[in-house]
Amino acid sequence: MCGIVGYLGTKEAFPILIKGLHRLEYRGYDSAGVALVDKNGNLNVYKTKGKVANLEDYCRDKDISGTVGIAHTRWATHGEPSDKNAHPHFSQSKHIALIHNGIIENYLTIKSFLIEKGYKFQSETDTEVLVQLIEYVMQEHKLPLYEAVYQALTQVIGAYAIGVIEKDNPNILVTARTASPLIVGIGDGEFFLGSDASPIVEYTKNVIYPEDRQVIKIERGKEIEIRSLDKEELIKPEIKQIQLSLDDIEKGGFPHFMLKEIFEQPKSLSLCMNGRLQREQKEIILSGVRENIDKFAKAKRILITACGTSWHAGLIGKYLFETLCRIPVEVEVASEFRYRNPVVFKEDVLIAISQSGETADTLAAMELAKKQGAFIYGICNVVGSSVARLTDSGTYTHAGPEIGVASTKAFTTQVCVLAMTALAVAKELHTIKEEDYKRIVTELCNIEEKISTILKKTKEIEDISKIFTYARNFLYLGRGFNYPVAMEGALKLKEISYIHAEGYPAAEMKHGPIALIDEEMPIVVVAPHYDMYNKILSNVQEVKARKGRIIAIVTEGDVDIKKQADYTIEIPQTEECLSPLLTVIPLQLLSYYVAIAKGRNVDQPRNLAKSVTVE
Ligand code: F6R
Repeated sequence: MCGIVGYLGTKEAFPILIKGLHRLEYRGYDSAGVALVDKNGNLNVYKTKGKVANLEDYCRDKDISGTVGIAHTRWATHGEPSDKNAHPHFSQSKHIALIHNGIIENYLTIKSFLIEKGYKFQSETDTEVLVQLIEYVMQEHKLPLYEAVYQALTQVIGAYAIGVIEKDNPNILVTARTASPLIVGIGDGEFFLGSDASPIVEYTKNVIYPEDRQVIKIERGKEIEIRSLDKEELIKPEIKQIQLSLDDIEKGGFPHFMLKEIFEQPKSLSLCMNGRLQREQKEIILSGVRENIDKFAKAKRILITACGTSWHAGLIGKYLFETLCRIPVEVEVASEFRYRNPVVFKEDVLIAISQSGETADTLAAMELAKKQGAFIYGICNVVGSSVARLTDSGTYTHAGPEIGVASTKAFTTQVCVLAMTALAVAKELHTIKEEDYKRIVTELCNIEEKISTILKKTKEIEDISKIFTYARNFLYLGRGFNYPVAMEGALKLKEISYIHAEGYPAAEMKHGPIALIDEEMPIVVVAPHYDMYNKILSNVQEVKARKGRIIAIVTEGDVDIKKQADYTIEIPQTEECLSPLLTVIPLQLLSYYVAIAKGRNVDQPRNLAKSVTVE
């Protein structure tokens, strides 16, 4: 959670920082702030509750000059969203300002120590103790800022990506990270900090991805200096190129990132399959699988762990691996897995799925399984993220940056990677017949086109959505591969429209949720035409008998469910195991348009943040 930005160079910092905050706002948007050392040597901190736009308004009549600065957009953990809890935080003497993304776990111990030393605190945050501790170390040991940050961090337990500046030296910006994302951009005589590459890409492609426990001194006119908290000697910076373009992070004519990302799915799937799906030969080549096939071969089971939408993709992964590879799979929400003292065998393969690659619970689950000797396979979107670094092997989804808080293209690319992985493993382990393999791979080659066909029905879906804005509850039903899709549809709806929704296995409905059904209740049934069609038809009839209002996702040419449903949305025919890639698209559009009709902010729904880096 939280986004951090920093700048030191020759330009005015404020516009760069504000633009950077807008690009990182998906990470948190309950308050925002900026600190700058102005031309007269004042350290000015401006911060306010609300979104970045509020901060811009607030700063209109302020002195925003300065060529060094730091800025922050917050998602509250310690202390409610308020002006005083917003970052940057000042030290007691107001000589130092600091921004922080993460959690200082031992902040209470440090706080008591500092209170004894006479320090007074202005906020309820864990972050403020760090800036006070830095000042204490600086004064007590007569150290310059960089050394003081270094020493202070040796006493800190927790996760952090920080930026620190000081009043008396506008030529210095100090940064450091442990377990929270941080990128340092290196331009011509200027430097940038960002929680991801989006605030940096407009100015330079040259970046450093600091490792955990590294502390970095950025000094005007000098090379940057990196040291690890574990070893004092200097570390040579490894400069990499950002693989991101400005188009990737702008709305490109769409009113919201979410809609842009829904429409990007044919392209993101194409990028995801590029170089892996050999369209002519009808083959899948995944190096992560090829190089580690022995691990899959000896696995008595696969564990899949993830959170939220990625967990739903994982549930589809279970159906894929069990059907195609005949390997038993357990799928678990990472926050439960990590604290359950789970049984993990050395022969287990643990697949961790994460769009951001920074989800704290997923990372902790991976660490736990790794310690117990499991082989860790990652499926992740953000290149170089913590998940990517913690894995033994894996496959990037290459969906491109996902900025809308509600996950859409990340989900379909995750399902696509899971399908490719299961197919590749099945082929290597001979658990699939050649003709079945070729048929499914051929279908995978057509999937982008089929998604484009569904996207052409957007107006139809928008019209249906408008009818249901009155609803206070929705039920989503699906079976087999499409049961997790029902859960995903429900999650999309609740997170952006704030309508309560539940996703259920269709046959389970009669064991409880059926009591909710009346003439007011919309029930979305994911019912493409496969072996279970007649079973789900019976479930639809059960709903109809209780006067529920049915919106059904059906295969083109459907007859029977159409007769029962109030509204149907047709999708093209495909292989059952790939059907979630199609059935989820109308559900994404449905939730988007219900939320729009209700006037919600779909890109920044209340209380949510894009990457959940706290547990
Ligand atoms: C829902 C959503 C979240 C994320 C979850 C995991 O639309 O986006 O449920 O899926 O927070 O995030 P990642 O995939 O980044 O680990």
